[in-house]
Amino acid sequence: MEAVVLHGGQGTRLRPLTHTGPKQLLKVAGKPVSHWVIDHLRNNGIRDVVVILGDNTPMRVVEYYGDGSKFDVRIRYVYQGRARGLADAVYRVRDVVGDRFLVYLGDNLVLHDLRPLMEFRGSASVMLAKVPNPNRFGVAVIREGRIVRLVEKPKEPISDLALVGVYAFDREIFDVIENLKPSWRGELEITDAIQGLVDRGRTVEYSIIDGWWKDTGTPEDILEANMTLLDRYVQRELQGEVEGRVEGRVTLLPGSKVVNSVVRGPAFVGRNTVIRDSFVGPYTSLGDNCEVLGAEVQNSVILDNVKLHQVSIADSLVGQNSVISREDRVQRAHRIVVGENSWLSL
Ligand code: TTP
Repeated sequence: MEAVVLHGGQGTRLRPLTHTGPKQLLKVAGKPVSHWVIDHLRNNGIRDVVVILGDNTPMRVVEYYGDGSKFDVRIRYVYQGRARGLADAVYRVRDVVGDRFLVYLGDNLVLHDLRPLMEFRGSASVMLAKVPNPNRFGVAVIREGRIVRLVEKPKEPISDLALVGVYAFDREIFDVIENLKPSWRGELEITDAIQGLVDRGRTVEYSIIDGWWKDTGTPEDILEANMTLLDRYVQRELQGEVEGRVEGRVTLLPGSKVVNSVVRGPAFVGRNTVIRDSFVGPYTSLGDNCEVLGAEVQNSVILDNVKLHQVSIADSLVGQNSVISREDRVQRAHRIVVGENSWLSL
């Protein structure tokens, strides 16, 4: 069975981080979100993956994954370009996939067993989860054990069962999408497509999952995903140099150095990152080639090539190539150069 991983979209809620690349490539606990997805698929026995590319620097995705051999899967690419909706993305694989296939949103982390979903007998199968804020999701209404209605981001509280970002379909979904009209937001919605199957009298199977899963659409979601992934997966693995204290489960990749500092796990430190005279607290992921000098950082995701000099930050998400430093000046005003859609809390 193939899995189709959606790697397009606009990622507006994650700007400015998505001005320079797709959100699915943002590294959380040491790996891009979509890398967690591909590892999860492989661990569920899927080795044939189709990646849908959007128009936000798609070559970066191809450069990262290549033909998939480094990840022990086979990857083929299909270009969607502009984000015209999940159903539009799915329709594009009609000449590439077989009779039954999975669709996995590349910014979703669903760490559950996928086999029950893969063993479906109807026309489609979905995973549902109870959520406190259903108006942010596509939801399903269930009557007498059957899905009868699906609504995207409902304004009325008709159900608190959200569609989790992994679906299984047979080829009938393509016939339905062919006849679909764009929604009010101009997209072909996957909820409308699944509704089309229900309207044709087809069975849409479902399972209600509990436990942690995450749609990493916003900065808060990324921080929460980082926390959970570090908690569950990071090991104590010190491949760098330590001339300070490293406590608990900390991964330190080769070329990195901890000097006169404390690093307290769970935490992840990429390659060639220097931590000097600093404190790196729990739930922090530091990217490659970072410099943390005389600084304090906790519960944060710091991407590659970032410099943190003489500052104290927490609960923060810092994009690649950023510099955050403090200068001792008489003037109290901060000196800043920030890109579009940034936010600073000083
Ligand atoms: P969304 O998070 O719903 O949409 P988005 O990426 O445009 O984000 P935002 O709302 O912040 O602007 O998309 C869910 C997943 O599907 C995500 O991994 C991106 C992907 N996607 C596509 O591949 N093609 C599309 O046309 C759309 C809309 C999303």
